[in-house]
Amino acid sequence: MAITSSVPRRLIVGMTGASGSIYGIRLLELLRDTDVETHLIMSKWAVRTMMHETGRTKDEVEALASVVHHPGDQGAAISSGSFQTMGMIVAPCSVKSLAAIATGLGDHLVHRAADVVLKERRRLVLAVREAPLSEIHLENMLKLARMGVVISPPMPAFYQKPQSLDEMVTYTAIRLLDQVGVTLEAQRWQGKMD
Ligand SMILES: Cc1cc2nc3c(=O)[nH]c(=O)nc-3n(C[C@H](O)[C@H](O)[C@H](O)COP(=O)(O)O)c2cc1C
Repeated sequence: MAITSSVPRRLIVGMTGASGSIYGIRLLELLRDTDVETHLIMSKWAVRTMMHETGRTKDEVEALASVVHHPGDQGAAISSGSFQTMGMIVAPCSVKSLAAIATGLGDHLVHRAADVVLKERRRLVLAVREAPLSEIHLENMLKLARMGVVISPPMPAFYQKPQSLDEMVTYTAIRLLDQVGVTLEAQRWQGKMD
């Protein structure tokens, strides 16, 4: 039997119906230039929001991923812990999906895949997008953070003096990738003020 010692460079990218679908798209665009195999799931509301916000089609976004999974396909490879991955980023993550993940009671493959990542103790990063936040949202985030989930709302940083919205989005996406051990070149803070 062949012995493999490393986890395959596979990352699940979940997109749900929160505002900020560009973050999920940018993750896929950035990962195309890496050795990481991307597994995309877009919920029904992710597709609706993405089309509204970006004017792109579902096919265009799906073409950016290595593998596309239907949100209703609970029999997909990523629905099982035996299919090894580096983990999962949900960007954007709606508060509905946050609640589903926090309770283990999801209704589509984004939720099931996140549940699997949790049970296998793999890396889960949630770019939760809602404002303002209710106690329910905060409690769900705290519960997951205590389990080791990275709660990383897509908040723009200004210290690198972005020249465009596009740059801000890219920087946020790069910081999300930092959390799963994919390090891309970026203008990072070097500890100096000018
Ligand atoms: C244009 C639009 C923007 C939305 N923005 C948000 C948002 O920022 N955060 C959020 O939690 N839900 C947002 N929603 C609501 C979610 O899409 C809705 O709760 C949906 O059921 C989420 O399902 P999903 O998590 O399975 O994708 C938005 C809906 C629409 C149509």
